[in-house]
Amino acid sequence: MSYELIEVSTQKAVGIIRLDRPKAYNALCNALVDELGQALDAFEADEAIGTIVLTGGEKVFAAGADIGEMLDREHADLFLDDFPYVKSHGWERLNNCRKPTVAAVSGFALGGGCELAMACDIILASDTAKFGQPEVKIGTMPGAGGTQRLVRAIGKAKAMELCLTGRMMDAPEAEQAGLVCRVVPVDALMEEALTMAATIASHSRPVVMQIREAVEQSFETGLQAGLLFERRAFQATFNLADRKEGMNAFAEKRKPVFRHR
Ligand code: CAA
Repeated sequence: MSYELIEVSTQKAVGIIRLDRPKAYNALCNALVDELGQALDAFEADEAIGTIVLTGGEKVFAAGADIGEMLDREHADLFLDDFPYVKSHGWERLNNCRKPTVAAVSGFALGGGCELAMACDIILASDTAKFGQPEVKIGTMPGAGGTQRLVRAIGKAKAMELCLTGRMMDAPEAEQAGLVCRVVPVDALMEEALTMAATIASHSRPVVMQIREAVEQSFETGLQAGLLFERRAFQATFNLADRKEGMNAFAEKRKPVFRHR
C-alpha cells in the first residue's frame, strides 16, 4: 500500500503511523484521514502487529481538521456526510480499533489533532507538546470527541475552560491534569513510545485486548456493571493457553512465551 499523507512502518510487533503533511501542519484533510483508516485496517488485519503508535512531526502532531477544506461547506454538507465521519472513515476506524493505540505527541495537538490523540488508548507527550480545542476561536466547536473525551480525561472545570477560551495546555499541565500518561524529552519521544508499545505487544494479545475493552467499558457503564464486565473478562482469560503459560512461567521463574491464544 502506498500513502501520500502518512508514513507507515513497522518495528517488530509495533505498527507505526506518522502523519506527514507538514506544510499544512498535519491538518486532517479527508484524504489524510482516509489513509489513516486504511493503515489502521492493515495493522488490525496483520497478526504480527500487537500495538499501533500514531505520531506526527516534531513541531506539530496535528493542527486540527483542515480549515481550508471546511471553509465553504454548509450544514447540510456536513450533516449528510456526518462529517467528520463517513467519508473520512479513519475517525471511526480509530474509535473502533481493537488493538491498543499509543499517540506519541510532540508540538501542537489542536482541535481535531487533540481529538485524534484522545481517541488513542494512551497519550505519551514530549516536553514540547501543546494541547487545545481552539475551535471556538474560529466560530465553531469540537466535533470529533473534544467536549466528551477531554471532560472524561481532565474533568469538567479544565475541559470547560479549554473549550470555551481556546487556550492551549502545555505538556506539564497536560500530565498534571491526567490527559497524558507521561512527558518525556522531545528527542526521546519515539524511543519511549516504541518501548511502551513493544512492552504491550509482548504480552498475550487477547489479554491485552480484553484489558483495554474493560478500561473503555468504565466510560460506558456504572460501577456495578463495569465490575461485572471486568470479572467476566478476567474469568475468560482462564480459557487461554497464555494464562496457563504466564502463571507457569512465574512459578518456574522463567520468561513466559505467549502464543496469543
Ligand atoms: N487547517 C488547515 N491549515 C492549517 C491548519 C488547519 N487546521 N493549521 C495550520 N494550517 C496551515 C496554515 O494555514 C499555514 O499554511 P500556509 O503556510 O500555507 O499559510 C501552515 O499550516 C502553518 O500555520 P501558521 O502559519 O498559522 O503557523 P503558526 O506557527 O503561526 O501557528 C498554529 C500554528 C497555532 C497551529 C496555527 O496554525 C493554528 O491556530 N491553526 C489552527 C488550529 C485550529 O483552529 N484547529 C481547529 C480546526 S477545526 C477542528 O479541528 C474541528 C474538529 O474538531 C473536527
